Amino acid sequence: MDQAVLSEGQRKQLRFVSFAVEAGSLPDWQRRLESAGVKLADAPIHAADGGLWFCDPDDVQVNLREDELVPWRKAAPEDSMFNFGDDIQRVDQARWLTADAPASPRRLSHMLIFVSSLAASERFYTELLGLRLSDRIKGMATFLNAGPGDHHVFGFIQSTHPGLHHSSWEVPNFDQLAIGARTMQERGYQEGWGLGRHTLGSNMFHYIRDPWGSWIEYSTDMDRITEAWKASDWDIPPAVWCPMPPETFLANLEDQG
Ligand SMILES: [Fe+2]
Repeated sequence: MDQAVLSEGQRKQLRFVSFAVEAGSLPDWQRRLESAGVKLADAPIHAADGGLWFCDPDDVQVNLREDELVPWRKAAPEDSMFNFGDDIQRVDQARWLTADAPASPRRLSHMLIFVSSLAASERFYTELLGLRLSDRIKGMATFLNAGPGDHHVFGFIQSTHPGLHHSSWEVPNFDQLAIGARTMQERGYQEGWGLGRHTLGSNMFHYIRDPWGSWIEYSTDMDRITEAWKASDWDIPPAVWCPMPPETFLANLEDQG
């Protein structure tokens, strides 16, 4: 399954979001959607054909497709052995000799989209599509999970209209966050935000502005949650520690069409 599809267009636009569903479940999903009054449509671009297509409350196209879950790529042993206090995992190995490997994101961790109503989008994606509430920052952002696993795989930021805020790509350790950021800066992508540790989800992050005004996040060390997780409303900043974010960090640069 492609985890990101770029297509040429007249304007900057979030074209669709796509979710994998279990093999053989599409007829059930179709019944569920139609009984909720959701109208099915055609794929917006040929590259993403297949599955069921419909619109969310902001008219962003949503796709459910029967697909394999993207498998975890195992971190190399030297990427995940640390010596903190008396928790010693690495002995007689010089970490620096392998710490400069090029950043190699393992998978799409999550994406956050701008929405015109946090409440309407939360209702749609939880009550109809079965995602679950992880946590909210009151009036500003909502984070959703897909069951036991990462604290969030999808979420929303309050805006006046839809758009892509960021896609987040998981790397296996802190070195790769810093090396990814440095590599992008060396290649001319100077605008960014990081290094820091987020509040909700707790992942460490470094963001780079993409050529269209959205953000790419390198992410690692996110909280894992189970069925026992209790969602809460928070009134907190987005990071525990970090440099100041760029003033435009929450700007939605997508044209309203
Ligand atoms: Fe993120």
